[in-house]
Amino acid sequence: MKKTYYITTPIYYPSDNLHIGHSYCSVAADTIARFKKMQGYDVLFQTGTDEHGQKIERKAAAAGLTPKQYVDNIVANIKTLWKLMDVDYDLYVRTTDDYHVKTVQTIFKKLYDQGDIYKAEYEGWYCTPCESFFTETQLVDGKCPDCGRDVEKMREESYFFRLSKYQDRLIEHIETHPEFIQPPSRAKEMINNFLKPGLEDLCVSRTSIKWGIPVTFDEKHVVYVWIDALSNYISSLGYGNDLENKMDAYWPADLHLVGKEIVRFHTIIWPAMLLALDLPLPKQVFGHGWLVFGGEKMSKSRGNVVDPVVLCERYGVDAIRYFLMREMPFGADGNFTNEALFARINADLANDLGNLVSRTCAMIEKYFGGVLPRPEEKGDPDDELITLALSTPGAFEKKMDELQLSAALAEVWKLVSRCNKYIDETMPWALAKDESKRARLATVLYNLAECVRIISILISPVMTKNPAKIRAALGVSEEQATLQSAYSFGGLTPGVRVQKPENLFPRIDVEAEFARMAEEKAAAEEAKKESAAEPVSLDEFAKTQLVTARVKECVKLEKSDKLLKLLLDDGKRERTVVSGIAKFYTPEELIGKTVVLVANLKPAKLRGVLSEGMLLCAEDANGDLSLVSPEKAFGAGCSVR
Ligand code: MSP
Repeated sequence: MKKTYYITTPIYYPSDNLHIGHSYCSVAADTIARFKKMQGYDVLFQTGTDEHGQKIERKAAAAGLTPKQYVDNIVANIKTLWKLMDVDYDLYVRTTDDYHVKTVQTIFKKLYDQGDIYKAEYEGWYCTPCESFFTETQLVDGKCPDCGRDVEKMREESYFFRLSKYQDRLIEHIETHPEFIQPPSRAKEMINNFLKPGLEDLCVSRTSIKWGIPVTFDEKHVVYVWIDALSNYISSLGYGNDLENKMDAYWPADLHLVGKEIVRFHTIIWPAMLLALDLPLPKQVFGHGWLVFGGEKMSKSRGNVVDPVVLCERYGVDAIRYFLMREMPFGADGNFTNEALFARINADLANDLGNLVSRTCAMIEKYFGGVLPRPEEKGDPDDELITLALSTPGAFEKKMDELQLSAALAEVWKLVSRCNKYIDETMPWALAKDESKRARLATVLYNLAECVRIISILISPVMTKNPAKIRAALGVSEEQATLQSAYSFGGLTPGVRVQKPENLFPRIDVEAEFARMAEEKAAAEEAKKESAAEPVSLDEFAKTQLVTARVKECVKLEKSDKLLKLLLDDGKRERTVVSGIAKFYTPEELIGKTVVLVANLKPAKLRGVLSEGMLLCAEDANGDLSLVSPEKAFGAGCSVR
């Protein structure tokens, strides 16, 4: 029987735009899953969505949908994204699926019956974006210690899980199983920051929210989302529900691949739950770093998200998957920049690999009529090339087994570079000019084609499109495309037809691409302005309070050539407004004028002055401004409609 390999990604919060950082985790898991399949494992690759909790409840309400409608729409988009990126999972768990709900309820009841869950009163703080509980002392400056956002005070009758009871067993497990938490720095962090200072029992139910899995024996409580979410790793295997039992075949999981910020949940709460359920612990939890943008974590609120759909459509799935896996040293953070992406695409893919493949195939076409020649005459650099080709699969496999995906690719690129150097050394175009060197030319081109075959095999867990194209171009059969076959040199059959593959890794004209991006950005901003001009309802318009106001005082704001500070009488009170009209009006011109004021604009500080409102101006095509004022001699305090 085949050995099994069960690998999971976290289950994602349904968000309307998963960004390239989210894709990192799924692409990494997919790459590992493909690699393990090549190694001959019976692989089960699972992903899914984490669909309950306060965050979803609120977002759905804001969108005017039921939570289920809201998540259904988003899950469809997430699945489309994984399809686009060739994330080829075997199982997709939705925490709203019936079998999952049943598992969570079974687990909760079992832990309650055996005394691992008990009822008490919870008083503390809750961070909704992180769906995490904190004690007063854990807060940092009164904010969530994980994300820095506001927390909400909670006081509820709750169920608690006896997490503290498992503290010593967890420490022992982590200390005696160094492979359990990787990279090792994360294990140290768990021990020193969480386990050694002492675990508190965990609040595992909520009464103040509805969108969750009800506790079967006390229906006003719903199960805490992390208990719900973590159970996905076994609900899909039939634990505590009626699905086919796959626990014996696949549990314990070989690898939970998770982002560094959720290692804590996977190496403390989850194993404690498993210990309480008397189930074996997962073999490894790997906490990868974040893909950051300009040094900051990508997030919608920071406005720095990079859309994977746009990237894949523009530069190709292979290039994006390669970039993600190559650019991020596994475990550490990696920075996303367009410059870095273009550099990888142009250097590694277009120049190094793309050129190698197209030159090799083109020369076989040109000098041998597209028929792969038989190697007939050895020459000087052959041994060095062949030795490297023979050792590369082992080096690659070792790094992959250690989950060092970037380093594994670097091993392959050593061979790519060596091949390009081999072309420079052997100069096939010179050999081709001399009929007596034909046997040598045949050998050189065969060796190159053979190296390309090996390379195409090794890159295929990462790239899902071009390796197959490359192999088709070289007439590689299925048996010649296995991982095993990469270990021997000479797999290609002389005499097969070779054809240059078209357009494998197109080069990016970096300057033109940046110019295009700038144009696109400008057009998007223009479109945004236009869409802002879309019709608004009367109700929407009526939300803006416009009133006439009289300018009582006006001065130029210090150190600014654009801003004027005005004291206005709005008919009810006096207020200060800072307005960017200094280039169009002198203060003297304005004193005594009646203007139109947006009276309910949120106050904002401009150059240290609190501005309470905005003056309406007309702007002509040259950018000249003219203040709006009532045509008749009206005073302050008239409403403008
Ligand atoms: N729902 C929880 C996981 C429950 S698992 C039982 C969750 N979801 S999430 O959608 O917020 O994150 C899913 C994964 O995406 C996490 O592993 C997280 O680290 C990863 N990433 C989110 N942003 C990321 C980057 N910018 N870079 C790399 N990974 C990132 O947490």
